[in-house]
Amino acid sequence: MSGEKQPNVDRVVHSYDGIEEYDNDLPRWWLLCLYATMVFALGYYFVYDVFHAAPTTQEAYHAEMQSVYAAEAARIRAMGAVTPEALLALSRDDATVRRGREVFVSTCAACHQANGGGNIGPNLTDTAWINGGAPTDILRVVTSGVVARGMPAWGPQLGTERVTAAVAYVLTLRNTNVAGGKAPQGTVSP
Ligand code: HEC
Repeated sequence: MSGEKQPNVDRVVHSYDGIEEYDNDLPRWWLLCLYATMVFALGYYFVYDVFHAAPTTQEAYHAEMQSVYAAEAARIRAMGAVTPEALLALSRDDATVRRGREVFVSTCAACHQANGGGNIGPNLTDTAWINGGAPTDILRVVTSGVVARGMPAWGPQLGTERVTAAVAYVLTLRNTNVAGGKAPQGTVSP
């Protein structure tokens, strides 16, 4: 057809049964696209994986959700509400959980181990609970204790803020089954 680029007959690399394969140069636009994707991939790799100069979509999502949870936690604290939903909402807020972990490590670890695996007290990382594993069960036990069985009442000593933070932290431990934890005690409960 007129106007169509003629193949370079000097660069026939295969010829079989009248079918010829030419060694044509790749079109310039195609090569430019290839180089552009290479440059993009390298840039992407260095920005996200090497220098962490920008948050990944996952990190951006986490940060956005955390600002929502933090606002919710502040609202709950202002209301002083201790409903199961409020306790679960607190257990999603990183700042509250960090605070709860501090309380747990300094006050509870002696009997439950820093990772919650339990020694004198039961394992808090399994699904079995002696006194119930629902958020309000845990709040009740931490606040009022099971004094006759060796779990002190922490409400009067720690106050609401530290108790609710510790409960929020314990809620994050449920069903994490840390290695080397004490054998389950009680019955399986949410
Ligand atoms: C002096 C040891 C001791 C300390 C310190 C202690 N606990 Fe306990 N805890 C126990 C014992 C023992 C039990 C088991 C009570 C029972 O048999 O009902 C228990 C039970 C619990 C339970 C209920 C577990 C279940 O299976 O029902 C929770 C939740 C809990 N502790 C959280 C805490 C938190 C949070 C702290 C720190 C603020 C804490 N404990 C500090 C000894 C302790």
